[in-house]
Amino acid sequence: MELVRTSALVTGGASGLGEATARALADRGVHVVVMDLNDERGRRVADDIGGSFTHCDVTSPADVEGAIALAQDHAPLWSVVNCAGIVWAQRTLGRDGEYSSAHDLDTFRRIVEVNLVGTFNVGRLAATAMSHNDPDPDGGRGAIVMTASVAAQDGQIGQVAYASSKGAILGLTLPLARDLAVVGVRVNTILPGLIDTPIYDFAPDPVAFKAQLASNVLFPRRLGMSTEFAHLAVELLTNSYLNAEYVRLDGGARLPPK
Ligand SMILES: NC(=O)c1ccc[n+]([C@@H]2O[C@H](COP(=O)([O-])OP(=O)(O)OC[C@H]3O[C@@H](n4cnc5c(N)ncnc54)[C@H](O)[C@@H]3O)[C@@H](O)[C@H]2O)c1
Repeated sequence: MELVRTSALVTGGASGLGEATARALADRGVHVVVMDLNDERGRRVADDIGGSFTHCDVTSPADVEGAIALAQDHAPLWSVVNCAGIVWAQRTLGRDGEYSSAHDLDTFRRIVEVNLVGTFNVGRLAATAMSHNDPDPDGGRGAIVMTASVAAQDGQIGQVAYASSKGAILGLTLPLARDLAVVGVRVNTILPGLIDTPIYDFAPDPVAFKAQLASNVLFPRRLGMSTEFAHLAVELLTNSYLNAEYVRLDGGARLPPK
């Protein structure tokens, strides 16, 4: 699939994997719309790459429709990379055996809402817009990349909310690709392992925390780089024969229970 003189939506584009992907797409001649809740960082990335920024909550249909319109003001929308996501860790049972200390239900809903519902919201609206593109010789009209996590398959203790939100993205991949084949839009999913981004900044000592995480990686024994994610995202967008697939990007890591 050709990217030059097209536009792309990158959710979570203000930071980490989304930022690296926005930069990689801009390098390929794409007008990127950075969609994020973080206005300051999002604007900085968009300015750096000659793209556009829009404040966007991926769970909001109006915000996403606005982002699509902004992309189409510049060039036809052919690519979407969903990187917006949030993490949470809490065990299902509290220490005291009381109902009140069981995993918070509103938090569980919030993680699923952002990571799963937000991803689907962007996909359903962007694909609707892409269905109006003039097709390429294959009948293609665009491609979507979704971001799950190795936690979708190796969910650890305390990851019930996060792992199930990401596992559902794996479940979404094939039926969404089947739904969108009729208009020539491909759908693929990346399962990142442990990639060095600000997502680990919540830890009291992020450097020590990341060093400990790296010990779970088979080879190379280090955290992944956001540019390695971006490279794969661009391949999934541009290789027209990749569809309905999910790919682990994890240096061979298999996460232990904790
Ligand atoms: N970094 C890793 O090791 C790793 C591993 C597995 C999966 N992932 C997944 O990759 C994705 C990107 O992670 P990252 O490491 O770049 O994290 P990050 O925290 O650096 O970036 C995530 C971005 O998403 C934005 N965001 C959060 N909620 C949003 C919403 N409702 N609407 C729009 N934007 C929103 C944040 O503001 C932030 O800029 C996430 O879905 C994460 O779960 C990351």
